[in-house]
Amino acid sequence: MNKSLSIGELTVSPPLALAPMVGLSHSALRTLVLELGGVGLLFTEMLSVTRLPEENAAVSPFLLRYPEEQPLFYQLFVSPGQDVGPAVDRLHQLGAQGIDLNLGCPAPTLRKQGAGCALTNDHDQVRHIVAQLRAATKLPLSAKIRLGASLNEDELLDFCRMLEGEGVDLLSVHGRLHQEKFCRRPRWDWIGKVKSAVNIPVLANGGIFSVEDARRCLDLSGADGLMLGRGAVGRPWLLADIAREIYGLPGLAPSLSLADIYSRFVHLLERFRPERRLGRLKQFTHYYGRNFTFGHHLAIAVQTSSSVEQAFDRAQQFFAGTKEV
Ligand SMILES: Cc1cc2nc3c(=O)[nH]c(=O)nc-3n(C[C@H](O)[C@H](O)[C@H](O)COP(=O)(O)O)c2cc1C
Repeated sequence: MNKSLSIGELTVSPPLALAPMVGLSHSALRTLVLELGGVGLLFTEMLSVTRLPEENAAVSPFLLRYPEEQPLFYQLFVSPGQDVGPAVDRLHQLGAQGIDLNLGCPAPTLRKQGAGCALTNDHDQVRHIVAQLRAATKLPLSAKIRLGASLNEDELLDFCRMLEGEGVDLLSVHGRLHQEKFCRRPRWDWIGKVKSAVNIPVLANGGIFSVEDARRCLDLSGADGLMLGRGAVGRPWLLADIAREIYGLPGLAPSLSLADIYSRFVHLLERFRPERRLGRLKQFTHYYGRNFTFGHHLAIAVQTSSSVEQAFDRAQQFFAGTKEV
C-alpha cells in the first residue's frame, strides 16, 4: 500500500482526501480534520468560475482559509463557453496548491447551467475546458467525476483517457452514475476499471464510513487513495483511523470525546462572520448526530435554534445526557 501519491509535482501523504462538499468543506471543517490527523489533501466546495474573481477573500466563507490548510485544491464548476482565465488568476493569487474541475455534480442548479455532470454530455466541451485550464496554470489539475450517465465501460474509459491526455493530473471517481442517489451502493469495482485504464493517480470516492469500508474500497478499486465526504463529516477522526489502521501512520487522532470535538468545531466557526455560522453548524450536526443512538434529537435541537449560542447550549445538554453509539 503506497503511503503517498504524486499529483504532478505535488506529493500527498497519506493518500487520503476530504471531499468537496457545499456548505461543509470550509475552513472550519478542514481545520478540524487536519487537527485530528490523517488527511493528506483538502478541497474547497465547488466555486463558480464566474463569481470567484469577485469574491472578497477576507470575508467570503467560500474562500476563507488559514495557512495550515494545505495542500488545498479549489474546485471550480464551469458552464460551456465560460472563460476560466480570471478564476485561475485568482487562484494563483490565493496560493492554491491545485485546481479541481467538477464534472460529477448532478444538482439541478448546476445541470440547468450545463455545469457539473451535465458538462460531460459533450466530451469535446470538457476537452476544451480542460485544455483551457491546462494552458492557464502549471498547478496540479484534477477532475472529479461520476461513472457516467449509464454503465458504459468504453465510454467511461475513453473519457478518462481523454482527461489524462489533456493534462489532468488526478482523477477522483465517485462510484455512482449521474442519476444515482446516495442510498445506492457505490460501484467501487468500476473505479478499478478507471484505475487500470489511466496512468495518473485515482482517488476512490463514495460510501466510505468506516475503516472496514476503506479497506474494501481499496481492495475492490485498487485506487491510489481515498476521498471521503460524509464519512469525514460525521466522524472527523475517520481519516486518522484509516491512516493508522491501513497506512500504518502512527500518532494520529488524539482521544477526544464527541462533545469536545463538537465544541472545537463550534469554536472554529468563529472564523466566519456571525451570520455565516449557524447554517454551517446545522449542516455539520445533521451528519455528526449519527454518532448517537438518539442523534436525531441533537439534530432537531440544533436545527430549531435561532443562534449558535442557543444551538451550542442545547448540544451541551444533549451530550451531558446521552451515551455515544
Ligand atoms: C452536502 C454535500 C455537498 C456536496 N458538494 C459537492 C461539491 O461541491 N462538489 C463535488 O464535486 N461534490 C460534492 N458532493 C459530493 C461529494 O464530494 C462526494 O462525492 C459524495 O458525497 C460521495 O462521497 P461520500 O459517500 O464519501 O460522501 C457533495 C456531497 C454532499 C453530501
